[in-house]
Amino acid sequence: MARNKEDPFAHVREATLKHRAKHGCGAWPYDNGPLLGLLAGLADARRILECGCALGYTSISFAHGAPKAKVDTIERDSEHARLARENFAAEGFDKRITVHEGDFATVLPTLKEGYDVAFFDGSTPVPALHKTLHRLLKTGGVLITANLNHGGTANAVRTTLFDGKTWRSALVDEDGETAISVKL
Ligand SMILES: C[S@@+](CC[C@H](N)C(=O)[O-])C[C@H]1O[C@@H](n2cnc3c(N)ncnc32)[C@H](O)[C@@H]1O
Repeated sequence: MARNKEDPFAHVREATLKHRAKHGCGAWPYDNGPLLGLLAGLADARRILECGCALGYTSISFAHGAPKAKVDTIERDSEHARLARENFAAEGFDKRITVHEGDFATVLPTLKEGYDVAFFDGSTPVPALHKTLHRLLKTGGVLITANLNHGGTANAVRTTLFDGKTWRSALVDEDGETAISVKL
């Protein structure tokens, strides 16, 4: 298969879009997998945590960009988890990516602290989950938060990300959809 040079996993993103169109589910793939992979590589990440796996596009992008990293990704939809595992095996990442099936609120407390990078891409960000992500990251660890434009609880998360006490943050895009933050 000829790979897209700008995004070698564009076909997984495409498959996710098709899946969502067919099922009307919440599998909205993130816009820019290569950016995530690059950030994780720059952080020389060994442990990456993801909330919102869908069919695995961003987990694969992280594992590709940070070749020494293991990725823990959380997904409550069992069909998404099954298809993601298939994609991890097909791309040769099944030894480095683990899908934890269940709700973020149930799975996050079971994980060990010390992550280098965390990514929230599960519907609307929620303050309580961000507090848990802060605990799970090491000091100086990087958090990427998507869906900050969803309103509601996302507004409170945005406020916390820019409080200057727990995080140092920057918005990635003009419309303020994604923030990158460092744990202080
Ligand atoms: C936006 S999609 C993730 C897209 C994925 N990161 C990618 O770029 O392909 C969000 C996913 O999170 C899952 N999800 C949403 N809320 C969840 C929760 N509270 N616990 C576990 N999974 C959740 C949905 O089932 C969906 O598959």
